[in-house]
Amino acid sequence: MRAVTVGRSGAEPELVQLPKPEPGEGEVVVKVEYAALNPADWQAAGGPGPATAFPLVLGTDFAGRVDVVGPGENRFRVGDAVFGLALRPGGCSGSYAEYTVVHQDGPVALVPAGLDPGTAAALPTAGTAAAQLLAVTGLRRGQSLLVVGAAGGVGSCLTQLAAARGIRVVALVRGDERRRMALLGAAGAVDATAGDAAGAVRAVCPEGADAVADLVSGDPVGFARHAAHARAGGLAVAARPGADPAALTGPVEGVAFRLHPSVRLLEALAAAAAEGGLRTPLDAELPLEKAPGALAQNRAGGARGKTVFAV
Ligand SMILES: NC(=O)c1ccc[n+]([C@@H]2O[C@H](COP(=O)([O-])OP(=O)(O)OC[C@H]3O[C@@H](n4cnc5c(N)ncnc54)[C@H](OP(=O)(O)O)[C@@H]3O)[C@@H](O)[C@H]2O)c1
Repeated sequence: MRAVTVGRSGAEPELVQLPKPEPGEGEVVVKVEYAALNPADWQAAGGPGPATAFPLVLGTDFAGRVDVVGPGENRFRVGDAVFGLALRPGGCSGSYAEYTVVHQDGPVALVPAGLDPGTAAALPTAGTAAAQLLAVTGLRRGQSLLVVGAAGGVGSCLTQLAAARGIRVVALVRGDERRRMALLGAAGAVDATAGDAAGAVRAVCPEGADAVADLVSGDPVGFARHAAHARAGGLAVAARPGADPAALTGPVEGVAFRLHPSVRLLEALAAAAAEGGLRTPLDAELPLEKAPGALAQNRAGGARGKTVFAV
């Protein structure tokens, strides 16, 4: 089968031929129709990470159909339309491939009627992260949330979920994204590259935001700069490793975010997407062969929603 892999930690991703994977007990092989790009994919390729098995098939998010059911009882049947995160222990069976292996106890759910597989593939990591980041903030109706990096995959979902709860979202983006972010429900958008971003945020939230979700900082200095947009007693949540929120000094509490995907949350996100209540803006739909270039491009920045690969 075709798969996009790295042969060792830090190697360039490449399209290779691999044997079709076999399911173990409680597992299923999924014929992947779409995989979705997340920054974690190039972060994993750059290693060192938990993955120990090479070649490492990149990608976690997928949508497709159950092709083979492994030995033992299983909640899935051949032909089921499924989506979720491919998180096989060892990390060797990713989603950038014609076939991937997932366990029935893993974060995998049925694709509901009315949801196309490309959109389903775009949801798992971005949607789960957005929902759980919002839960971590504990914000209530009428409070304010500054989303740093709001135009990307997680930010687009987070903006919508927060706005739907009556939270005032301020999007901190690079470039003029006022129209895009307003369509997603943001109350305002501040261009981080246009001079006095701090002043522009204060113009919308004079006391500072009740919470800041920092989706971009991978270092303590950048995170502290964004956390300073929160009010005294407010919260700043770091989505990226390296931000080191524990090192934050001053009147804002820093919290590190970790993803905990679940079947129940996937089902809820998919239902919302099928009903039109949650949109996952698609930046690009590309053939799998284009994944190495798309990973490099995402690493360089500029994402506006999700990139999916048709397999
Ligand atoms: N901890 C966890 O479990 C977890 C789970 C999910 C995601 N994450 C992390 O969350 C981050 C965001 O994920 P994603 O899927 O949303 O990524 P994405 O789709 O690539 O979006 C990132 C967005 O941030 C923008 N950006 C970059 N630097 C910026 C800056 N200084 N100011 C304003 N905007 C900036 C980018 O556009 P421009 O470059 O044009 O500005 C892009 O729109 C990733 O690093 C990912 O690894 C962590």
